[in-house]
Amino acid sequence: MTENYKAINWNAIDDQIDKATWEKLTEQFWLDTRIPLSNDLSDWRELDDDHKWVVAHVFGGLTLLDTLQSQEGMASLRHDVKTQHETAVLNNIQFMESVHAKSYSSIFSTLNTPDEIEEVFNWTDTEEFLQNKAIKIESIYSDPLMDPLKKKIASVFLETFLFYSGFYTPLYYLGHNKLANVAEIIKLILRDESVHGTYIGYKFQVSFNQLDDSKKQELKDWMYDFLYQLYSNEENYTHMLYDQTGWTEDVLTFIRYNANKALMNLGQDPLFPDTAENVNPVVMNGISTTTANHDFFSQVGNGYLLGNVEAMNDSDYDI
Ligand SMILES: [Fe+2]
Ligand SMILES: [Fe+2]
Repeated sequence: MTENYKAINWNAIDDQIDKATWEKLTEQFWLDTRIPLSNDLSDWRELDDDHKWVVAHVFGGLTLLDTLQSQEGMASLRHDVKTQHETAVLNNIQFMESVHAKSYSSIFSTLNTPDEIEEVFNWTDTEEFLQNKAIKIESIYSDPLMDPLKKKIASVFLETFLFYSGFYTPLYYLGHNKLANVAEIIKLILRDESVHGTYIGYKFQVSFNQLDDSKKQELKDWMYDFLYQLYSNEENYTHMLYDQTGWTEDVLTFIRYNANKALMNLGQDPLFPDTAENVNPVVMNGISTTTANHDFFSQVGNGYLLGNVEAMNDSDYDI
């Protein structure tokens, strides 16, 4: 006999974190089309070719990672949910990953020529160190026999660690009062990723805490080893992107700091000695600054009632 099909009941919540996360994510809903990116054109025209190259290619890299999250990541995690509300939250996350992936194309179409856009996508689809990280994560998502906890680790590492070599650039410019609307998009993405990483990290911890000590240790060993593999690839990726600007060491500090945050989301101890104090203050300022464009919804008329977007602050980043 087949089991009955069960309707989702939001009046009987198994895990309050599902409901709280749904509410937070729907409250902070946004679309790329609402941000007046063309206001950044005068800043963009002042950049030299090396810096323009870095901006366009970090966004190429970020497009690839958000594509992976929207196409494979959430679909893979959805196989292992414990509650029906968790499925609903993952559905929301999956859609927003598509918004993130699309928003870089809005940036490209504003700042770059069609030939430049084509070059960025050719690069993204072939660049060795970028492809390495996407394929390492994808192979975990796509293995039907993979431990569900390892899939959650891969997702948190992607979102709370691997994005940050790319996020560095727009945050750096924001800290210098440049490309404010581009940075606005990145901050909206970062705010989403911070909720995603916290939520998936929480779901990881619930199952992890039920394991016996030897299973826990085994998984920890795998996790730190995997993080180290990703970091070593990320070092190469960062050199390749940033050596021409002289920012490489600063970016590496920033990504080690975020690697520790990914471990924290998973309830684990930090791997690297880097803390917020070691990160370039201009970039930390970019993260925590009140948005320069906080009234941007008023620029698109007053009919925009979908969500209440607040300025991001330190506590959003730290949740
Ligand atoms: Fe994303
Ligand atoms: Fe995400």
